This record gives sequence, C-alpha cells and structure tokens, in this order.
Amino acid sequence: MLLALGIFTAFAGSQTISPGEIWPDDRGQHIQAHGGGILKVGGTFYWFGEERSRGLNPTYRYVSCYSSTNLAQWTFHKDALKVYDPENFRPGWILERPKVFYNAKTKKFVMYMHVDDASYKLARVAVAIADTVDGDYQWVKSFRPLGHESRDIGQFIDDDGTAYLIFEDRPFGFRIAKLSDNYLNVEKEMCLIPMHMEGGAVVHYHGLYYAIGSALTGWNPNPNKYATAKSLEGPWSDFTDIAPPEKNTYGSQSTMMLKVTGMKATTVIFMGDIWKPATQWDSRYLWMPLEIGDGKLSLPEPKPWTLDVETGESVISK
Ligand code: DGJ
Repeated sequence: MLLALGIFTAFAGSQTISPGEIWPDDRGQHIQAHGGGILKVGGTFYWFGEERSRGLNPTYRYVSCYSSTNLAQWTFHKDALKVYDPENFRPGWILERPKVFYNAKTKKFVMYMHVDDASYKLARVAVAIADTVDGDYQWVKSFRPLGHESRDIGQFIDDDGTAYLIFEDRPFGFRIAKLSDNYLNVEKEMCLIPMHMEGGAVVHYHGLYYAIGSALTGWNPNPNKYATAKSLEGPWSDFTDIAPPEKNTYGSQSTMMLKVTGMKATTVIFMGDIWKPATQWDSRYLWMPLEIGDGKLSLPEPKPWTLDVETGESVISK
C-alpha cells in the first residue's frame, strides 16, 4: 500500500510550484508550453504554448495543450495544433505565443497566435479553430489586426466575459482590442498605449485594470513594467517596474496574468518565461503570485509556493 502511494505521488508530481525549475508533466517530461496562455473550462485549466521539444519535425510548428485542476500538476494532452507553413511564410517561419479563447455563441475554441516570416517582417496574427479544447485546431487565416503590425500577443478575458487581444504594434506601441462576436476577427480598438512593450498582459482586479509588458530586448530579460487604468480605454498611468530593475524580472518575461478567484481570496499569478534561446526546449517558467491592489503591483522574489484553487489562497515558502 505504502509503495503504491509512493509511486502515485511520484507520478502525479508536486503540488508546489517551483519557479525556474524543470516542471515535469504527468509523463515526467519538462512542460513545453512556452509563451503560453491558460483557458479555464469548467473546473479545468488548459495551458497552451509553444512546443519546442528536441527532435520535432523542423518543418512543422506545434502548439501544445496540457490540463490541470490545481495549476501545479499538468497532464499532457497532445499537440493541439500541428501545422506546416500554411500560407507560404517560407522556411524558418515563426509561430509564437498561442492563446485560446472559448466562444460560447459558436461553441468553438479559437486560437490566436503570432505568425511571421523568419525575419519577423510579416507581423501578423493567425486564427485556428476547433470543436474541442485540445483540438485538432484547423487553420483559418492570418491577418494584421485592424491593419496594424502585430508581433507579441496577449489574451485578456474581462470579468463580463468579453475577449480582448493585446498586441505589439512596433511603430506605435501596445494595443488592446476587442474580438468580434465569433472571435474570428479583431473588431474594436480599446486603446493604444504608446509604449514599446512585448509580452503584454492585462488583469482586472478590484475595479482596476493592470497592464504589464517587457521592453524589446529579444530573448534577454529586462525590467518588466506595469500601468493601471480605471477603464481599458485609459487614461493609463505611467509605467513602473514590477520588481527591482536590477533583477531584470528575475530573468523572466511576462506572458500572462492569471486571476484565480476562490472562496476566500483571489490570487493573481504572474506567468513568465525564462528563455534559453540556444536550448529553447529547456526554457523555464517563472510563475509567482503577485502582490497586487490599490493601484500597486509587484512581483515577489521567486520562491517555491503553493496554491489552493478552491480557496484562492497562495502560500510562498519562507
Ligand atoms: C521577444 C518576444 O517576446 C518573444 O516572443 C520572441 O519573439 C523573441 N522576442 C524573439 O527574439
């Protein structure tokens, strides 16, 4: 019995989230969901991201899908999207930062992602759809949202369920725009924040919107910053560092803020990537509960922590 329990515990992984460490899935393999995003369906969280395992067919691009009920232990489902240069973007084409929305009207899962040619000149988003959360997603099209350049994208679903795309428009800044009814188009710009920021993410917390992003330093970390606004249209405050600037966001770059509201508390998780450009399959994740409220946001020094998704409470190790 004890032996069986031991085996089960090892298989199921740890309920502690350890920033920067190898994060094994149910197969014991490091999670491959880089530049990712999370969609909650019922009581289950689905994590989508760039699958960058070694040994993949280099002519394809892959978006992985994992699921979890506690955000710490993840089960690999499959590559929800596997696609071979669908619009002749040419060898070396880019697929980054996939994010999935669920459209309750059409009952379709809609994936957005940044697609580009090898030199990042196309600057487009692509859309793929599926009837089931883990796919297979079918490519629909690529386009420039509202005619603008779009590189890094982020996803924001407001408390009223409205879905927004955040995208980096290199000449101008960082835009937040509402999706169309069926989510297949980007319909209405809410704001242009005239800051050159990547890794854009937004959370709505106690009546205030908080936006974060990183500077444009390629794969290298930099001090990520945040601003606040009472409405998505702004006006937005000035941007301030989320952590001591010399820490360079503890080596990470924002990809999403996930709000977990439980029976007792709400935890907002900073989800960041610690990129390893020469060994991308080994890129790590920095997830930490943010200190947030009253217009202030800060990323604590990374330490192992636990989350109770039922109560919404998180505890950081001493
Ligand atoms: C920074 C972006 O945030 C990443 O998604 C990736 O596009 C790298 N730049 C490429 O240098």
